[in-house]
Amino acid sequence: MPLGSSDIDLYESEDPIWNPALLTIPIPGIRKMVNLASTMNDVIHLSIGQPDLPAPDTVVEASVEALRAGQTGYTMDAGMPELLESLAEYYSERYQRPLSPDNIMITTGATEAIYLALTAVAAPGRHFIVPDPAFMLYAPLIRMNGGEVTEIPTRAENHHQLDPQEVIDAIEPHTHAIVLNSPSNPTGTLYPRKTLEAILEEAAYRGIHVISDEVYDHLIYDGREYPSVLSCCSDLDHVMVVSSFSKTYSMAGMRIGWLIGSQAAIKKLRRYHMFTTTVANTPFQWAGVAALRSGGPFIEEMLSEYTRRRDRLVELVEQTPHLTGYKPEGAFYLFPALPEGVNGTNVALRLLKETGVCTIPGETFGNSCSNALRLSYSTSLESIERAFERIIPWMEKQDFD
Ligand SMILES: Cc1ncc(COP(=O)(O)O)c(C=O)c1O
Repeated sequence: MPLGSSDIDLYESEDPIWNPALLTIPIPGIRKMVNLASTMNDVIHLSIGQPDLPAPDTVVEASVEALRAGQTGYTMDAGMPELLESLAEYYSERYQRPLSPDNIMITTGATEAIYLALTAVAAPGRHFIVPDPAFMLYAPLIRMNGGEVTEIPTRAENHHQLDPQEVIDAIEPHTHAIVLNSPSNPTGTLYPRKTLEAILEEAAYRGIHVISDEVYDHLIYDGREYPSVLSCCSDLDHVMVVSSFSKTYSMAGMRIGWLIGSQAAIKKLRRYHMFTTTVANTPFQWAGVAALRSGGPFIEEMLSEYTRRRDRLVELVEQTPHLTGYKPEGAFYLFPALPEGVNGTNVALRLLKETGVCTIPGETFGNSCSNALRLSYSTSLESIERAFERIIPWMEKQDFD
């Protein structure tokens, strides 16, 4: 197979130049599929993990204006004061939880915030709890720094809801933190307030940290209220929340995210941030201020478009033999299961080669879901329809027993 060989060279080489900790980074399943797809014609992607809608005009204009105004230097290490203040105001209003700019640090996307939060606390002898499936960064970043991970499996039959009791039962004397991501990539599952409250209460009682990745906090359907960890915890002493503009305003390439925590945590992490990316990029921090000021109507339109796509995808998955789906309440993913024991990676590869539809195999996101496929509906309704005109007849021909 022409793909993947360079990944294997990079991550699994015996070459002593590389830190052995790099071995904890799995070969990226997404890249593997997308690389193969790039060698083929007429591929329909249900693999995309970023918004397909253009960023709002006001955001683009604010970026250009900032560049023209000479905003091309470094900002303060915690981020631009105007953006920190806008975020503090926005969060205080959204969750009725007073936050000050000192509770926030601007990062290069949520990715840097996740990197800082996890690698600043993971260490040998410390145990972490992570849902499975989950966004693929969490467990490797913990393991890379010597931490130990227990994965809590979730299932399509339960709409991939996390059972708070299973999380609590997995707590050990050396448990250091619990990682949450609602709505989830890859499942689109939104955790109800009672799940978060149960976990947060137990974590606070035992002095365990909760690190919550909330990048999809505006991709919430059916008029539901978003239960953020910020609206469920009594203080920020053991809580870090990560988010970004990437998904909410189609600004993924602008790379502006943030981390929210206690003032003491932010103070500590600001120094670490100096040793990673120094500061986030300046013109797009101005774009972020514009997004917070004027992005409301964009979010409304985006939600109605994604809702239409989600509803149709759910119907199409229901009509597809061998797939068990559910109705996700957030993000832009559905994570249906193939029958137990079926190898999702083989199915995804065959599906791509034989029908030209690119999906992401479940094992990219953990160990408990090798029979699943991640389908993204961050693509047009028309592409979704065309993809299933290929998937359904192909699945009808499969005999997975
Ligand atoms: C759950 C989750 N967290 C974080 C990120 C990264 O976000 P950013 O683009 O802001 O770095 C992604 C991107 O796909 C994601 O799905």
